Amino acid sequence: MSHTDPAPTSSAASSPTSSPTSSPTSSTEPVDRRLVQIRVAAWASIVANIVIVVTGGAVRLTASGLGCPTWPRCTSTSFTPEAHLHGIIEFSNRMLTYVLVAIAIWTVVAAWRTGRRDLKRVAVWLALGIPAQAVLGGITVLTDLNPWIVAGHMILSMALICTAVLLLQRVARPTPARGGAGVVLAWLTFAAGWIVIYLGTVVTGAGPHAGDADAPRNGLDPLQVSQLHADAVFLFIGVSVGLLVCLVALRQPRAAVRAAAVLLVVEAAQSVIGFVQYFTGLPIVLVGAHMLGSAVIAATMTWVLLHVRHPEVTTQHPGGERPQSDDALATRSA
Ligand code: HEM
Repeated sequence: MSHTDPAPTSSAASSPTSSPTSSPTSSTEPVDRRLVQIRVAAWASIVANIVIVVTGGAVRLTASGLGCPTWPRCTSTSFTPEAHLHGIIEFSNRMLTYVLVAIAIWTVVAAWRTGRRDLKRVAVWLALGIPAQAVLGGITVLTDLNPWIVAGHMILSMALICTAVLLLQRVARPTPARGGAGVVLAWLTFAAGWIVIYLGTVVTGAGPHAGDADAPRNGLDPLQVSQLHADAVFLFIGVSVGLLVCLVALRQPRAAVRAAAVLLVVEAAQSVIGFVQYFTGLPIVLVGAHMLGSAVIAATMTWVLLHVRHPEVTTQHPGGERPQSDDALATRSA
């Protein structure tokens, strides 16, 4: 990406990390501010998309999925719910969409202000995901919580979280993608993570928390699909361990090794929650925590892949670009 994009023409052409060798003139300060803004906006997008996974989970787990029985109105005659708990829960989740819209617009504006085409492109994709998610949420209601549509709704949220992480990483202007064993393993880890997430949504579709007492189930055997989901988790953890060992053996930058180690810790915690919820009859608090864990895993596995693929960030100098290690960047931006 970034290295093929034309250099920004404005003062935004200076590095997002603003080189320490460049004198802190007044013209570079606004650039730094714009980069801080896009970084904050990207963080807000990550957090907001994770929060809506949890609040969407609350709708499903309190059987409030059809608290508003139609869409885009809540009832056939009103945009607001009648005064009952399920309606209020579902309606509150719908209202959160507006918070996401506001954050998405802020992110696009912040990306535009940097003058960087790579950031604009990712921010626009992220913003387009919000109306797509609103429509998919509507289809979910109109199909009486069809489990495959509910699964698609969850998957799209996960994809938006991954995209928000990509945006955050690109602010630091990563170097061109690398190849090698570490990168192959990072891709395998990312792919395995997606398989686990997809199979998790299939388990949910077979399970008892449909979002409404009358909602259809996907008809698969919960025991068998849970087994498949857990098998995929073992694969995911196996390749993640392989990745960590490989990064250490190849003496990859500390930030990449740290990211892979963090992913393993999050996977272990999520697996414990998964097993405990399974053996305790799926209490809603644990299922909600498992949904939160899934969102955090989607973010972390993307972060790992990006760190391994682009282990350095570049900073622009009058004479060209000079690679700089992650750790040096972290020290500087701290
Ligand atoms: C890294 C590890 C794991 C990840 C990333 C993960 C991810 C997911 C996801 C994304 C869902 C779907 C949530 C939804 O659609 O609302 C799910 C559901 C589920 N997972 Fe996992 N999972 C992991 C480990 C496990 C383990 C080890 C078990 C043990 C059997 C497990 C059991 C379940 C069950 C039973 C459900 C269905 C919950 C329901 O009925 O709503 N998970 N998981």
